[in-house]
Amino acid sequence: MREESQAFVREVPLPDGAATERLGSAIAAGLAVGDAVALEGDLGAGKTTLARAILRALGVSEEVPSPTFTLVQHYETRALAVRHYDLYRLKDAAELRELGLDEALDEGAALIEWPERAGPALPADALHVALSITGSASRRAQLRGPGKWAAHV
Ligand SMILES: Nc1ncnc2c1ncn2[C@@H]1O[C@H](COP(=O)(O)OP(=O)(O)O)[C@@H](O)[C@H]1O
Ligand SMILES: [Mg+2]
Repeated sequence: MREESQAFVREVPLPDGAATERLGSAIAAGLAVGDAVALEGDLGAGKTTLARAILRALGVSEEVPSPTFTLVQHYETRALAVRHYDLYRLKDAAELRELGLDEALDEGAALIEWPERAGPALPADALHVALSITGSASRRAQLRGPGKWAAHV
């Protein structure tokens, strides 16, 4: 099962902000109800920037704040509902249940910063996007997840 849910592996260089925007559009095009996107990487790696690119590509025109303090922000897009999480300040599994990750995935998709904090609540079929800093304006994305993503990214 695990092998099947991790069939897609790809490295995408992000030499500038425009490349990150393009990756966001590609992920947005594949996003469906039940999909979780796990955005991994250090502070400043570009998790929020990529989440914004995904939401913009889905048609969100309002400002997309970082959910650093609220932990979750909700968006209704033309295609589907999306919840954007930042779990850095998550206290425990009970708080995560209150934040409604299960409902989020029943009703739409979830973009999750600091997904490590979700522990076993993170779906096994999440698309993992690990961002690393390669220069002042450049990043690298390492993606792995279900095979369906090969058609989009
Ligand atoms: N190629 C790039 N892709 C994404 N962000 C970049 C890139 N180059 C520079 N940056 C900058 O890096 C910072 C990333 O911040 P942010 O997205 O808030 O990171 P995180 O959410 O991972 O802490 C932003 O200031 C962004 O403008
Ligand atoms: Mg962030």
